[in-house]
Amino acid sequence: MILVFGSINIDLVARVAAIPQPGETVLSPRYETLFGGKGANQAVAAARASLPHQVAIVACVGNDAFGRSARDNLARNGVMADLVANSAEPTGCAFITVDERGENAITVASGANTSLTKAAVRGFAVDAATVALFQMEVPFVASLDVARHVRAAGGRVIWNLAPAPPSFPASDLSDLLATTDIFVVNEHEAIAAAALLGCKNDDFRDAGSYLSGKGCLCVVTAGARGAFAFHPDGHSERVEAGLIQPIDTTGAGDTFVGVLANGLDEAMPFTSALHRAVRGASLACLAPGAQAGMPTREQLGTTREG
Ligand code: RIB
Repeated sequence: MILVFGSINIDLVARVAAIPQPGETVLSPRYETLFGGKGANQAVAAARASLPHQVAIVACVGNDAFGRSARDNLARNGVMADLVANSAEPTGCAFITVDERGENAITVASGANTSLTKAAVRGFAVDAATVALFQMEVPFVASLDVARHVRAAGGRVIWNLAPAPPSFPASDLSDLLATTDIFVVNEHEAIAAAALLGCKNDDFRDAGSYLSGKGCLCVVTAGARGAFAFHPDGHSERVEAGLIQPIDTTGAGDTFVGVLANGLDEAMPFTSALHRAVRGASLACLAPGAQAGMPTREQLGTTREG
């Protein structure tokens, strides 16, 4: 069973020729209102990849129309959302600009996501079969407490350090790594995390290898170059991504994490789960918005061969 402890946002998305620089204003013909939030995205990606009733989310939304539609969207996608609480804050909202190459820039107004506490997870029966997913859009202390609870019950923790906080104490990162089985970062996050712990190196492979030396498996997602996994025993592997013409890369990292979690939840060999996650992330880039392109179980294939 997969438990996602994380954020829910509504994404307001404008497509532009080029993402504005500081002080610049650019025009877009319209905007779209879409479902997002790293927690919700990872939950939807995992649920689409899974058999029914295998994914639950613990999160907070506002007592507003955005919150109600986000909750309905999760249920429609097969995510158990009864542990989504109401907050006095408005539902989280992300302001996203996407350029002609499919690259994005995102500002998140956190709102209700800041109200999430460890108490919210009480209604979920954590056990040794739990695969729990964490990101960085809800209070870190609450996530760390829940992750420790999952590990104490014998469950597994996947932590995606996104968005990487601009200032993160090294002691918090050490606590996070000590509580994590699989640490998922992009190239920049890998270099920044390793630097925080004293590894001054601008090669993400060295950073990933260094981070795996802290005792967890470190997976570095590298966009069109696929993903690299650095195992704590020192060996590493790479899965290349197929060639695609991305329409929108928003949510690709979340799809990767959700599909990877499903593979591990179904006891696939790690390498097979990694191949499937890379394939899922590529497919997610072929439709606009974070969730529209997330593949179904049928599109991913259920094979354990990778
Ligand atoms: O990872 C993509 C997500 O980041 C978007 O859906 C947006 O809500 C932000 O949280």
